[in-house]
Amino acid sequence: RIRFNLLKKKKKKRLPFIKVQFEMWDSDEPVPRLELLKKVKGCDGILCVLTEKIDAQLLEAAGPNLKVVSTMSVGFDHLSLDELKKRGIRVGYTPDVLTDCVAELTVALLLATSRRLIEATHEAKTGGWGTWRTLWLCGHELANSTVGILGLGRIGVAIAERLKPFKVKKFIYTDVAPRPELANMIEAEYVSFDELAKQSDFLAVCCALTQETHGICNWNLFSKMKKNAIFINTSRGGVVNQEDLYEALSTGLIAGAGLDVTTPEPLPTHHPLFTLKNCVILPHIASASYTTRNAMSALAANNLLAGLRGEPMPKELKL
Ligand code: GLV
Repeated sequence: RIRFNLLKKKKKKRLPFIKVQFEMWDSDEPVPRLELLKKVKGCDGILCVLTEKIDAQLLEAAGPNLKVVSTMSVGFDHLSLDELKKRGIRVGYTPDVLTDCVAELTVALLLATSRRLIEATHEAKTGGWGTWRTLWLCGHELANSTVGILGLGRIGVAIAERLKPFKVKKFIYTDVAPRPELANMIEAEYVSFDELAKQSDFLAVCCALTQETHGICNWNLFSKMKKNAIFINTSRGGVVNQEDLYEALSTGLIAGAGLDVTTPEPLPTHHPLFTLKNCVILPHIASASYTTRNAMSALAANNLLAGLRGEPMPKELKL
């Protein structure tokens, strides 16, 4: 909860000094919705994480004082942007500071999936490791492969930069329109959605979750993919139709999937995807390094303060 007094100092160029009164939810568990609805009443600003839905109900509960919402995330699908815009509330988010960390985890997940690392350690620990066998635990390698990126942004570029030394033959991508400036950095070719599905040996989903991308990775995509293809998602679970993915993985339509994000989160432990050896599931940890989480919190706090002062935010989402 934040209240503030704006005490402008007379000296030029000095940032206005603001005294912020805040209330912090001091727990790793998300704040219960009813508690949140009570606590936001009368606040000038809210700093949230991606587990909080900032929708009409919450904005109504906060009331007319609310000027800024700062989310400690690059994704903003938990924010009702129309409702925020309607009320003239400014929004801060945390792009860039997490790009390296997310790209690194994406590569780790890709390799864990394609080279079957989780299965392999399980076999080694539980007595499945017999004599050396020619085809046992064989996977798919990156050398000479085609890597597809669905939604080319900063993170997609960073993933490609990391994968290039593995001797990838070709990078391809699709998006709502070609993005030559980014694509040139990684010599990626713009292709249609169908071509992306058909040509990719590895397909990394890097797009934001929007109305247009909701469920875009469905049977239509999987049925066009190669049998040896590895599907990787570190964006949002909502872009994937999980029933279709289960069908594609369990029938051998594609070779494997690595997911850092699911619907819902946490994914219930009895979910069918957990029964598949060719599906590696991580609990949404792509930006989880100490350095990155510190940078994200500092940026989120600075966005909030700038918004309260009525100044440009370091990273403001244009509504
Ligand atoms: C994490 O998923 C983020 O959006 O920052």
